[in-house]
Amino acid sequence: MRILVTGGAGYIGSVVAAQLIAAGHEVTVLDDLSTGHTDAVPAGAGFVKGTLRDCAAEVLSDGADAVLHFAAKSLVGESVAEPARYWANNLGGSLALFEAMRELRVPAIVFSSTAAVYGEPERAPVAETDPTRPTSPYGASKLAVDVALTEFARLYGFGAVILRYFNVAGAQQAADGTWLGERHNPETHLIPNVLAAAATGRRVQVFGDDYPTPDGTCIRDYIHVTDLADAHLRALGACQPGRHRIYNLGNGAGFSVWEVIEVCREVTGIDIGVDVAARRAGDPAVLVASSARIQADLDWRARRDLRAMAANAWRFTQLRGSR
Ligand code: UFG
Repeated sequence: MRILVTGGAGYIGSVVAAQLIAAGHEVTVLDDLSTGHTDAVPAGAGFVKGTLRDCAAEVLSDGADAVLHFAAKSLVGESVAEPARYWANNLGGSLALFEAMRELRVPAIVFSSTAAVYGEPERAPVAETDPTRPTSPYGASKLAVDVALTEFARLYGFGAVILRYFNVAGAQQAADGTWLGERHNPETHLIPNVLAAAATGRRVQVFGDDYPTPDGTCIRDYIHVTDLADAHLRALGACQPGRHRIYNLGNGAGFSVWEVIEVCREVTGIDIGVDVAARRAGDPAVLVASSARIQADLDWRARRDLRAMAANAWRFTQLRGSR
């Protein structure tokens, strides 16, 4: 298939693009490089630098069978500081893309959504049928795209799959040997921050140890980026005209911040120093996915554990450090 990957110069988009190419698809990446990196675009993919608003229609007019849509701003804290930017970019950009798909009759889309649509869930694990009450403009903008896409599927016959990711981690080696991994600036995610502390001898901050959890730190559901990419390929194969589906993507098991740091210590062999700091605003105590629906429908399950995520991310961190 000819596939447009928006945001394919970013962390998750680049890993999925690499897997699509390995599976024999023809891939074009559209990315404005606001947070992505040109050298993350996998070998064998076409690349267009630009925004969804300016370039989606033009790129799609060259011919496409499906879109995998990752391009978005994705920092919760930044979204609270600059909500209009998140609405314009995440919702506005997506609507421009959907409109171009409608005009050019591109029939299928897989959309990268987030656990942030659930806000502070009342229970764990969270199912797709649980209430969506986002607590940040980031989560709200992604939920708005979920709703818009559901309507486009109903009105215009798109086959759409919406994937709500929990905590994505790890790195993947592409076919040409390049490692694709997480390198945000600033980096806010736990595992890369812990590993950066290991690499530099700095200390890592734990945001709050007084949550109502067994060890007092937040519990999250970590999923390996390679497992996540595998789910995208299955979702692509499952797109059916006029039908939209929503799936959570996680491991179904929760790990506390302390447990993550301990696994990173074991994997690196480094006694990473820790400081306990104040809670970070908006962090739910526990966020764990039920992935029962995607297991049942698409026969997908997470195969890689937290140790594999930490080990692959550590490899990526070391390679970046040696540049
Ligand atoms: N944390 C630390 N120190 C750090 C970084 C994170 O203690 O340096 C803690 C956080 O407070 C949180 C846990 O580690 O308790 C995980 O934090 P991440 O930033 O790695 O991930 P989040 O759970 O905040 O983010 C995830 C997704 C977002 C989504 C959000 C919804 O990555 O896309 O869940 O809550 F918006």
